[in-house]
Amino acid sequence: MGFLDGRFQIEASAASGIEAVVKRELSALGYLPSGANYGRIRFEGDFRDVLRANVFLRTANRVRIILAEFNANTFDELFDNTNDVNWKDILPKDAAITINAKSIKSKLFSVRSIQSIVKKAIVSAMQRDYGIARLSESGVTYEIEAAIIEDKATLTLDTSGEGLHKRGYRTYLGDAPLRETLASAMIQLSVWKPDRPFIDPFCGSGTIPVEAALIGLNIASGMNRNFACEKFVDAPAVRAEVQQEAEQLVNRDIKLQISGFDINPEAIKLATKHAERAGVKDFIHLQTADALNLSSKRPRGVIVTNPPYGERLMEKSEAEALYRGFGEVCKAMPDWCVYVITSNNSFEKHFGKKADKVRKLYNSQLECNFYHYLAPIPKRSDKTE
Ligand SMILES: C[S@@+](CC[C@H](N)C(=O)[O-])C[C@H]1O[C@@H](n2cnc3c(N)ncnc32)[C@H](O)[C@@H]1O
Repeated sequence: MGFLDGRFQIEASAASGIEAVVKRELSALGYLPSGANYGRIRFEGDFRDVLRANVFLRTANRVRIILAEFNANTFDELFDNTNDVNWKDILPKDAAITINAKSIKSKLFSVRSIQSIVKKAIVSAMQRDYGIARLSESGVTYEIEAAIIEDKATLTLDTSGEGLHKRGYRTYLGDAPLRETLASAMIQLSVWKPDRPFIDPFCGSGTIPVEAALIGLNIASGMNRNFACEKFVDAPAVRAEVQQEAEQLVNRDIKLQISGFDINPEAIKLATKHAERAGVKDFIHLQTADALNLSSKRPRGVIVTNPPYGERLMEKSEAEALYRGFGEVCKAMPDWCVYVITSNNSFEKHFGKKADKVRKLYNSQLECNFYHYLAPIPKRSDKTE
């Protein structure tokens, strides 16, 4: 039985602020997630579970197999403990080994030195255990991460390859696009359910409406791409089985009411292309329109949006004027819930209303707030359904 036929401790990493969403997703997939230490959520499983996590998780950045954990207060300790791992069991003789390093609140803080010590320790173990003088590194790539957090090292094997935000549909980048994983997390943090109307009035390249449609149609976010672990030597052949599971879950019979608007016609062209590539074009209404003219006859909808922040796309004062106008628009839609992400700290003042809840999220490295405005819950007699 090879290493990949066993059971593992698995780690899904997430951006700060969305760990709870990843945990919820893992629970829905049938796992028992634990911890959320520095954006790392753990669960247990085998290779099929590793692949399922890659295919189904919408909000995680990557999925990694945990290989070893030990204290690393000195470089000697880091070298010796890394060298003790049974690498021959994990890596083929010709593996192309890349090392990624991270250090948080630890004595060993030089990421370059950590990378170099870990690589040396692995190469030395491979030379010893395979009985060879030189590694060719001509085969499949295996990316090892050495994360030292509070002086404890965790060595993991990356199974995702490209980050999980790369679903495969977004090949053209618009102005200030949102990561697909963050867009999905924002939707999952909202009260939206697929039977409710959904609008992104500042949709840009369409990331938020496309992610909403993927959720609505139950299309797994990783269905149309491959992952690094599928290329591992002697990897169990389970992709077909996981793919079949994902295909069976897709529900194209559902009626969705998802719209995306943007004032820039080029953005709408891009959004249309992305919706098409994601296979959800027929389920989203995309149109050039000014958010300041927004209205809807549909009741109890949900707006999730990422307007300009006044950092890259327009001046801060212009963005703030836009928030004022958008605040008026939302006032006229009192039964809609509104969710806005922005790095502008005085958003509530300009929008004209204090949020019911504010959550800190990061758009790439930029610290943002995600403002939640909830609509009053309708009384029984008001309900139309
Ligand atoms: C931060 S970007 C949205 C990016 C988008 N979330 C994505 O992933 O591509 C903000 C968008 O707001 C649009 N915009 C600016 N003013 C607008 C207005 N008055 N009405 C509608 N859209 C507007 C811009 O054209 C831009 O595409």
